Amino acid sequence: MVNPVSLVTLSDSRLILRCPGPELAPEITAACQDRELHRWLEALPDPYTEADGRAFVQMCQTKWADGSEFVFAITSAADGRLLGTIGLHDVERLTSPGGGMAEVGFWVVASERGQGIVPDALRLVCGYGFKELGLARIEWQAEVGNTSSLRAAEKVGFVLEATCRRRLLHVGHRVDGWLGGLLPEELR
Ligand SMILES: CC(C)(COP(=O)(O)OP(=O)(O)OC[C@H]1O[C@@H](n2cnc3c(N)ncnc32)[C@H](O)[C@@H]1OP(=O)(O)O)[C@@H](O)C(=O)NCCC(=O)NCCS
Repeated sequence: MVNPVSLVTLSDSRLILRCPGPELAPEITAACQDRELHRWLEALPDPYTEADGRAFVQMCQTKWADGSEFVFAITSAADGRLLGTIGLHDVERLTSPGGGMAEVGFWVVASERGQGIVPDALRLVCGYGFKELGLARIEWQAEVGNTSSLRAAEKVGFVLEATCRRRLLHVGHRVDGWLGGLLPEELR
């Protein structure tokens, strides 16, 4: 049973963002065969099977329902095809008078990269996080060297704040990570 909050839809002229449904599981599974995703994403099942795609969709719906994570499928407004996913994870202290905090994560289907899809999706999701969820800060992290991710984050105003030694896990190893942050007044 999906909570009504999972019906949140964000859109602009090119993109529609919504909680992924089971109909997107095959496209998610196909996209997650890309080795570039396995290179940069922590804990992606490898090999990535159809069951993993279905489990991912189920997890997104469960976490929307309990308010612990807000993951959107990025889809094309023109034809509904999957372009990627983007989400607010590790959501904390939403009810604090000082505002909450969350971390953003994203990926784009290999054939769709370099078209500014994530920057546009970030504008929608960060706007939602600041205005609707009451976040005071959104964090971004990436393995050191993931310049594509850094560029996409910087385009909407994220500031690279630190290089954190052994901050992230990659296939069971600790690796150095970049940490960035975005405040509401910096979103552009
Ligand atoms: C990082 C990623 C999400 C960026 O999304 P995007 O929608 O392609 O973002 P942009 O179009 O703004 O491109 C960002 C940068 O990617 C690089 N880029 C451009 N075309 C590219 C392509 N075809 N393939 C890979 N990277 C490309 C460029 O450096 C670009 O910066 P520029 O516009 O200043 O030249 C995407 O490259 C991706 O899915 N990478 C693999 C997964 C990943 O690393 N996720 C983030 C984990 S922290």
